[in-house]
Amino acid sequence: MNLETTLMGLKLKNPIIIGSSSLTDSVANVKRITDAGAGAVVLKSLYEEQIMVETNQNVGKTEMYQSYPEAMEYVHTFAGEEGMNDYLELIKGCKKKVDIPVIASINCFSLNNWINFSKEIEEAGADGLELNISIFPEDEKLESATIENEYYKIVKSIREIVKLPIAVKMNSYFTNIKLVAKKIEESGASALVLFNRYYRPDIDIDYLHMITRDTLSGPGEITQSLRWVGLLSEKLKCDLVASTGIHGSPGIIKQLLAGATAVQICSILYENGVDYIAEIISELNAWMYRKGFKSIDDFRGLINKDPHNSLSWERIHFMKKTSGNIIKPIQY
Ligand SMILES: Cc1cc2nc3c(=O)[nH]c(=O)nc-3n(C[C@H](O)[C@H](O)[C@H](O)COP(=O)(O)O)c2cc1C
Repeated sequence: MNLETTLMGLKLKNPIIIGSSSLTDSVANVKRITDAGAGAVVLKSLYEEQIMVETNQNVGKTEMYQSYPEAMEYVHTFAGEEGMNDYLELIKGCKKKVDIPVIASINCFSLNNWINFSKEIEEAGADGLELNISIFPEDEKLESATIENEYYKIVKSIREIVKLPIAVKMNSYFTNIKLVAKKIEESGASALVLFNRYYRPDIDIDYLHMITRDTLSGPGEITQSLRWVGLLSEKLKCDLVASTGIHGSPGIIKQLLAGATAVQICSILYENGVDYIAEIISELNAWMYRKGFKSIDDFRGLINKDPHNSLSWERIHFMKKTSGNIIKPIQY
C-alpha cells in the first residue's frame, strides 16, 4: 500500500505525525519514534514564557544583579539565549539522526520573539514550523475580533520573514471557525492543526485545592476535530492536520475520510508506548487492503463526495425527525 502524503510541501512516508509533547523533547525520543515508523514529528514547544521564568529564577538568585540593571539585562539575554540554544541543538540533533520531517513548535507572547524564534529555528534546519498560538481571552473588555487579529498579525509577520512552511495549531473556541481558519490561511499558513488540547483545571473536593485532571485525551474527543476537518477540507486550500482524540487506526481512517492531509497523535502513545505506531500503520494497511484502496489519495475526503454529508457535519441538535434520511444510524 502507498501511504505517502504531502504536507506543506513536505514528503511524508505516511500521514501519522507525533504531536508536540515530552514524547518529542529529545533526540533519543525522536529517533525511537522514527524507528517505530512515524511519518513526521513535531518537537516539544519552545515556550517564551518558560524561558523568561527560568531566566528570572536564575537572575533573581543572584542579589548582585539587582543593584546593576545593565548586568541584569545582560544575564537575561544570555540565559534566554541558553534556553533557545538548547532548542536549536534539539533541532540540529534530530536532523542529523532521523530522515523524517522535523517540525519545530513555538509559543510566544511578544511579536518580536515570535519572529526571532522563527528565524533562529529556520537557520537551525527545521523542516517546518508549527505556531502554537493560544491567546487566552482573559480581558473581558477585548472584542473577539481584536484577539483574532492578533493571530493573523503573528502569522503574517512570520510569513514575511521566514521561508519555512508554517502550520498553525488552532483552538476550537472561535465563534466563527470558518472565517478565522480562512483568514489564518490568507495570512500565510500552509496548514492548520485542528485542534490543540489545553491544560484542564479541576478541584480536589477532599483537599480543597486546585489540581489538573485528564492530561491525556479520551477517544470520544475525536468528534470536535472530525466535524471541522469535514467542514473545512473542501473550503480551504491549505492542508488540514487532525489532532485530539485520535486513539488508533479507526480514528486516523475517519479523519482521512473527512479530508485530513495528516493526523497528529499523542495521548495514545503515552498510554501504549511509541511502538504502537507500527501497529497502527499495519492496521491502516490492512483496512486499505480490505477496502481496495491502494493509496491514501484513493479515499482522502471520500465522505464529502456525498453532498448530503455537509449537512451532517453542521448538524448540532438531536432532533427526532429530520428532513430526509441524512444520518445513517449505527446498527448494534
Ligand atoms: C504531556 C503533554 C505535553 C504536551 N505538550 C505540548 C506542547 O509543548 N505543545 C503543544 O502544542 N501541544 C502539547 N501537547 C498537546 C498535544 O500535542 C496534542 O495536541 C494533544 O494532546 C491532543 O492530542 P491527543 O488527543 O492525541 O493527545 C501536549 C500534550 C501532552 C499530553
